[in-house]
Amino acid sequence: MTDALPIPNLTLSDGKTIPQLGFGVFLVEPDEAERVVSEALEVGYRHIDTARVYKNEEGVGRAIAKSGIPREELFITTKLWNSDQGADTTPAALDASLERLGLDYVDLYLIHWPAPKYGKHVETWQAMVELRETGKARSVGVSNFLEKHLDDIAAVSDVSPVVNQIELHPAFQQRALRAHQEQWGIRTESWGPLGQGKYELAELPGLTDIAASHGKSVQQVAIRWHLQEGLIVFPKTTQRERMVENAAVFDFELSADEMATIAAADRDQRVGSHPDTTDF
Ligand SMILES: NC(=O)c1ccc[n+]([C@@H]2O[C@H](COP(=O)([O-])OP(=O)(O)OC[C@H]3O[C@@H](n4cnc5c(N)ncnc54)[C@H](OP(=O)(O)O)[C@@H]3O)[C@@H](O)[C@H]2O)c1
Repeated sequence: MTDALPIPNLTLSDGKTIPQLGFGVFLVEPDEAERVVSEALEVGYRHIDTARVYKNEEGVGRAIAKSGIPREELFITTKLWNSDQGADTTPAALDASLERLGLDYVDLYLIHWPAPKYGKHVETWQAMVELRETGKARSVGVSNFLEKHLDDIAAVSDVSPVVNQIELHPAFQQRALRAHQEQWGIRTESWGPLGQGKYELAELPGLTDIAASHGKSVQQVAIRWHLQEGLIVFPKTTQRERMVENAAVFDFELSADEMATIAAADRDQRVGSHPDTTDF
């Protein structure tokens, strides 16, 4: 096992810390997950982002167990699926995820989507806060919440989510939502940080030139941009050489002008689902 990568930690509003760069496993096939996560841990990642609905928690758990890495050196996130929302069902859903992961606790448990069809995001948040008290989820947060969903929970709960994990990449920068959630100290996690490969990062104005000037790929420039924006980011890849590439982002810095060039590349391009209509 190689050493952990030199990744900075950020402090969350509950006092816990999180490695700012991690590794995501959306669309990693269940029978590939153990190999992929084992390689990511070998490369030096220590923060893994999974979810019930990815159907790969068992493989993630096997990789963790085989790694021999002390549990306290890892940061593991999983997410509550929409149909499990509710005051009564949320605790059992976490227990089931822990069972699949082979863990006693997760570092971060998220409500995956607000899921308006169920109308339960507020009571679910209250259940998440109670789960934090059990220690089975060290920190609790949300994902894909819009301003109004954050307002709904702020109206009933003194506890703010530590993060909101939202779609965010250079063509979809979510400045308004980020500003809104900062009032409660909610950190932003970027999902789809490379645009999920649904557009070419190189087509955004300036990206190719910035990458060439640093001797880096456009993907590395994008990841570096997330980090310098203060975002938490966990690109996904099944390819070991890309795991290495995506973490080789601590030996260069984007200038203020380069950050401004990327800020100007925002074209409000959502590539994933909209939270108001994601009711599956
Ligand atoms: N909360 C949510 O609703 C939500 C939704 C989506 C994702 N997420 C989380 O966010 C994580 C990251 O988002 P994502 O997986 O959707 O998308 P992403 O990380 O933006 O993009 C992944 C895609 O980029 C490719 N890729 C990775 N590194 C590359 C590189 N260096 N050069 C070229 N291509 C590269 C991958 O292909 P290969 O695998 O072939 O390398 C894959 O097709 C997920 O894995 C998941 O943990 C959360």
